[in-house]
Amino acid sequence: MTALALCRFAHFMATMMAFGVSAYLWLYAPDMLRHALSPPARRLVAASSLIALLTAVVWLALEAASMADDWSAATDPGVVAAVLTDTSFGRAWIARLGLATALVVAAFARRDDWPMIVILSALLLASLALVGHAAMQAGVEGVLHRANHAVHLLTAGAWLGGLVPFLFCLAVYADYTLRRDALTAMMSFSFFGQFVVAALVLTGIVNIALVSGHAPFPPATPYRELLDAKIVLAAGMIVLAVFNRFVVAPRLATGKRALAVLRATSLLEVGLGTIVVALVSVFALLDPA
Ligand code: HEM
Repeated sequence: MTALALCRFAHFMATMMAFGVSAYLWLYAPDMLRHALSPPARRLVAASSLIALLTAVVWLALEAASMADDWSAATDPGVVAAVLTDTSFGRAWIARLGLATALVVAAFARRDDWPMIVILSALLLASLALVGHAAMQAGVEGVLHRANHAVHLLTAGAWLGGLVPFLFCLAVYADYTLRRDALTAMMSFSFFGQFVVAALVLTGIVNIALVSGHAPFPPATPYRELLDAKIVLAAGMIVLAVFNRFVVAPRLATGKRALAVLRATSLLEVGLGTIVVALVSVFALLDPA
């Protein structure tokens, strides 16, 4: 299970980075800023796309080993093929391996086609809702659960992945030729971020209702302990985001101190978000009792 949790963590972070970074550049960055931020963003998206594809292959192998209860099955083509064709996980994974490959091709061959990269990375991230606890139910409830979880994953990626180009904007803020564009992009991220975070929390609560059917308190089981820790960290991220938006950002024009505080609190948000993803990479494998 440790190997699978580590693989899931790397896969979640890579798909969230590819989506969040490309969506920020496409939706929030004015042309001049997008041009200036494209080199580091391209490199990050290219690396993320390769990690997403590699970890998708390893995840499949680990699933084969777990289903066969035999490590050697991880590299047994017959078992892996049977997992791909005879299980609902496998059928979803065939589509996901195709999407991950298409994202790598787009990230290397169409490096500035941000709309294409956003669409492919969004489909790759959202399609994680086709496996795991979100795939527990059938019928209408199953469709609603998967749709809810897809929105949860996309909003988590938009926030956590978007914080990286937000930090790029803080880095170029000192450049007078880019300052106005950087401010425009950061304010758009922060404004629409309110709706993104609201949707993330709402879909998280709906996930709790559909996965375990009761509030995760008291933290009496490993699943609830880790979910509660996740909720506390996510609450910490929201407090930081509100502080940034209503206390620090309005003071940006008055001096360097606000810029340094905004950089530090945004880095802390990324750190907390990374721990949140690490927690869910483990607890979503557990019995949701
Ligand atoms: C920055 C904040 C958050 C991030 C990055 C995040 C990320 C994720 C990810 C990656 C998953 C997928 C796990 C999987 O499919 O195996 C997930 C699942 C989930 N999240 Fe969040 N989430 C965040 C906030 C929240 C909040 C605030 C709540 C509760 C109010 C929540 C509740 C859940 C639940 C219940 C699941 C399903 C776990 C399962 O499959 O058993 N999340 N989250």
